[in-house]
Amino acid sequence: MSLTTPTSVAKVTPQSLLAQKQAGAAITAITAYDYPTARLADEAGIDLLLVGDSLAMAVLGHPDTLSVTLDEMIHHAKAVRRATQRALLIVDMPFGSYHVSREETLRNGIRVTKEAGAEAIKIEGGAEQVVNVRTLTAAQIPVVAHIGLTPQSLRRMGGYRVQGRTEAAALQLADDAVALQDAGAIAIVLEGVPRELATHITSLLAIPTIGIGAGPDCDGQILVFHDLFRLTFRQPAKFVRSFGDAGELMRQGLDEFRNAVESRSFPDDSESYHLPTSVSLEVAVSRG
Ligand code: KIV
Repeated sequence: MSLTTPTSVAKVTPQSLLAQKQAGAAITAITAYDYPTARLADEAGIDLLLVGDSLAMAVLGHPDTLSVTLDEMIHHAKAVRRATQRALLIVDMPFGSYHVSREETLRNGIRVTKEAGAEAIKIEGGAEQVVNVRTLTAAQIPVVAHIGLTPQSLRRMGGYRVQGRTEAAALQLADDAVALQDAGAIAIVLEGVPRELATHITSLLAIPTIGIGAGPDCDGQILVFHDLFRLTFRQPAKFVRSFGDAGELMRQGLDEFRNAVESRSFPDDSESYHLPTSVSLEVAVSRG
């Protein structure tokens, strides 16, 4: 039995997200990169599935998100698309896919929409992304913005650091949030910002905020799937809470499998196919 009843909305849309904010009903979100985990998350009633560019680190083994390509994002998003019925499917635009020109941003946004079946796309950055939010929104592509600790800005930020800690930086982020909303963003991810700032931005905006490392007062919360289930090989960030240890479960299962094969207890007879009793191998062999 589940602890809570998933929201009764049959299909999550930008409009139902707004209604959720207005009703004060928390929005749930998680990253997804493949069919089985996306299907589990969708069936569990998670509202938003994000094919995040964290794909690069969580699944592809890269040290950061910078190198994942648009083709790789689309490849994984297609699998998530096949698994997703109720949740809103959001796909990250990877680094470099919306930084060159408006035309290229639009071309890539259309690819993600047509080829991967994204229902919204996410881009990182503040006021400098207003032009892209406007361009994509004008092409009927819903945009989720992402401000604060934006992993694609790793090199500029000099590491993964909490953002908006000074008054000037906090006010800049609040201004960015309003500018992105005014440009047409349907929601804003707030990552790695002080709780007080996230609370302030959430109260300023009509559109929902989805927090990660931004405290409990955002309209919703998102975590990386592999953090949720301890499927990573690094120290989790302060804001991560794990909701199960799939890594340990798999380690145990792999040990047991290896032992069973090495001791020749797997497979046993019940796990083997048998010839029908009417077939005799001796006859078959002698007939050549
Ligand atoms: O790529 C990602 O996983 C993200 C979330 C952390 C919001 O952008």
